[in-house]
Order: sequence, then structure tokens, then C-alpha cells
Amino acid sequence: MPDKAPRIPTLLVTGSNGQVGFELRRSLSPLGQVVALDRGACDLSRPEEIRRVLREHRPDVIVNAAAYTGMDNAETDIENAYAVNATAVGILAEEARALGSLLVHYSTDCVFDGCQTSPYAETDAVNPISVYGKSKLAGEQAIAEVAPTALILRTSWVAGIHGNNFAKRMLRLGSTQAVLRVVGDRFGAPTGAALIADVTAQIVARAWLHGDGSAFATGIYHLAAAGETSWHGYASEVLRYAAAHGAALKTNPDRIEEIAACDYPLPAQRPANARLDTTKIRQTFGIYLPDWRKGVHHLLDQVLA
Ligand SMILES: NC(=O)c1ccc[n+]([C@@H]2O[C@H](COP(=O)([O-])OP(=O)(O)OC[C@H]3O[C@@H](n4cnc5c(N)ncnc54)[C@H](OP(=O)(O)O)[C@@H]3O)[C@@H](O)[C@H]2O)c1
Repeated sequence: MPDKAPRIPTLLVTGSNGQVGFELRRSLSPLGQVVALDRGACDLSRPEEIRRVLREHRPDVIVNAAAYTGMDNAETDIENAYAVNATAVGILAEEARALGSLLVHYSTDCVFDGCQTSPYAETDAVNPISVYGKSKLAGEQAIAEVAPTALILRTSWVAGIHGNNFAKRMLRLGSTQAVLRVVGDRFGAPTGAALIADVTAQIVARAWLHGDGSAFATGIYHLAAAGETSWHGYASEVLRYAAAHGAALKTNPDRIEEIAACDYPLPAQRPANARLDTTKIRQTFGIYLPDWRKGVHHLLDQVLA
């Protein structure tokens, strides 16, 4: 008698047109059938639509890459930010629990106020200083209340080939402007959307699909590239690498002017210290997190190709 064919797991991705969502379509594909849903296919501001879509697909794994990420807009568009970042996350958690699915959700360094002088660990006190940060924290809390089998991956300074981000903006400005002024007193680790998606797939594969579900280490994990820099250091790296790889720039990469955050006011406050301590994810899952420059170079190789 031939062996029965193994059941192919279904992995459902929301926000599949975002930076991370786009990369998840690739990284999750060796694990099973990926159902990639953009806003048109599953609008997270519509609770009934979320429930209908999840009950239709009955996924083994739900990866929520959708979010209201417009930090400055969120300051005035509060209701919509909470609908997507908090209410919808609670619904995803309820449906995941009912289906017995694993829920993977992303959160942010913006749940912290940035006043701490060392990198933030998962156990450090949260205190968001923006509507976006508050709404993302409410999403984390919604998951904790419903208590599905869930992983919350907090990340920072995300940049991917698909979507808008700081690295692409610096490249654009560096190509058109002789003088560039960038904030030098805000610190974090630029993290590639591809790295986030790859680590997500590694964890899902190791701990859930091919492991013992009962031993699965759920909870909050910090996921960011290794090392740290300021926005000014990040911009300098982008332009130096671009110049070395043939980009025609108007800005001298070594002459980007460093300014203070208070000289570049934005509607939403950002944490001065966005550094995340990644010891827990590295030790729990045996994940190697490369230096942030690797992710920037990988992104620029694609953008400049
Ligand atoms: N970007 C960062 O620097 C950063 C930093 C820390 C943490 N994070 C977190 O990392 C995760 C992924 O972020 P990202 O950078 O990939 O974000 P992103 O590029 O802005 O993508 C977010 C996606 O969510 C979708 N979306 C927004 N509202 C929606 C709705 N009502 N229904 C369905 N989809 C909706 C967007 O759809 P449209 O394409 O239609 O707009 C977009 O495709 C998020 O949880 C974010 O909070 C991001």
C-alpha cells in the first residue's frame, strides 16, 4: 500500500502587498499553500469580512502583515488606526483560536517611549508616545486577552523592495538634491522585509509545522537586524553603497548634514531609542540575525539593478 500523501498546510497572509507581506509570499511558499490576501481580498477594517475569509480558508497558520503604518496620519486618523491595528487583530486572534491555527503578528519598537538607554528587551515596560504605537500595543493586548497560539514579532525600521521606505527616499533625494539633512539623534536597526519574512518562515517551519506543537514557544519576540545606527548613519550607508555601485548622486554621501530630531518636527513622536534586544529570538529558535548593512545592501542591489 502506498503511503497516504501528507496534508499540505495552508498559510494565510494578510497585507500581502506591503513590504513584509510581499516577501512572505516568497518565504512561506516552501511550507505549504500560501493564500496571499491584499486589502481588496481582506479588508481588516471590516470585521465580518475577516471572519468570512478565515472561515472559508481555514488556514493552519495566519500571518498578519497588514497594518495601519502611516505614523503621522494616525495622529489624526485615530479610529482607522485602531480598527486595523487593534480591533482587527483581536478578531484574527479569536478566529485563530477557534480554528486552532497559529497566529503570527508583527508589532513595533514604537510600543516603547525610547527613554531607556539600552536596547529594549521583551520584558521592558511599554509606554507608546504616538497613536500608532498605542494602537499597535492595543493589538498586542488583544492577542494576549484572547490567548490563541500566537507569536508577536516586534521589529523596527523596516525596508523592502515592495513599498515605500527610508532607504528608497534617501536614494531619491540623494539623486536630486545637493544638500541633505538627516536626523542623527534617533537610534535603531534598519531591518530588511526579506529578513523578517525569512525568519518568520524559519520559525513557523521549525516550531509548528515540523515540530511538536505542544512545545511551541509562543509569545513576544524582538526581531531586528544586528548592530545599530542613526537615521543619519543609515542615509550615509545608503548613499555610499549606491555611489559605489554606479548611482548618479547629487549629494556627497560623506557630506550629509546631521540634524537633531527637534529640528525636524513631525506630527507623530518617534522613540529616540528604537533599539531592540534580540537575545530571546536568537536563543529560542537558533536564529542568526545579520548586520543591518547586509539588508540595506541586499535592498539596494535590487533597487539599483
Ligand atoms: N514599516 C516599518 O518601519 C515598521 C517598523 C516596525 C514594525 N512594523 C510592523 O511590521 C508590519 C509590516 O509592516 P510593513 O512595513 O510591511 O507595512 P506596509 O508596507 O505599510 O504594509 C502594510 C500593508 O497593510 C495593508 N493594509 C493597511 N490597511 C489595511 C486594511 N484595512 N485591510 C487590509 N490591509 C491593510 C496595506 O495595504 P495597501 O497596500 O492597500 O495600503 C499594506 O499592504 C506591520 O505590523 C508594522 O506595524 C513596521
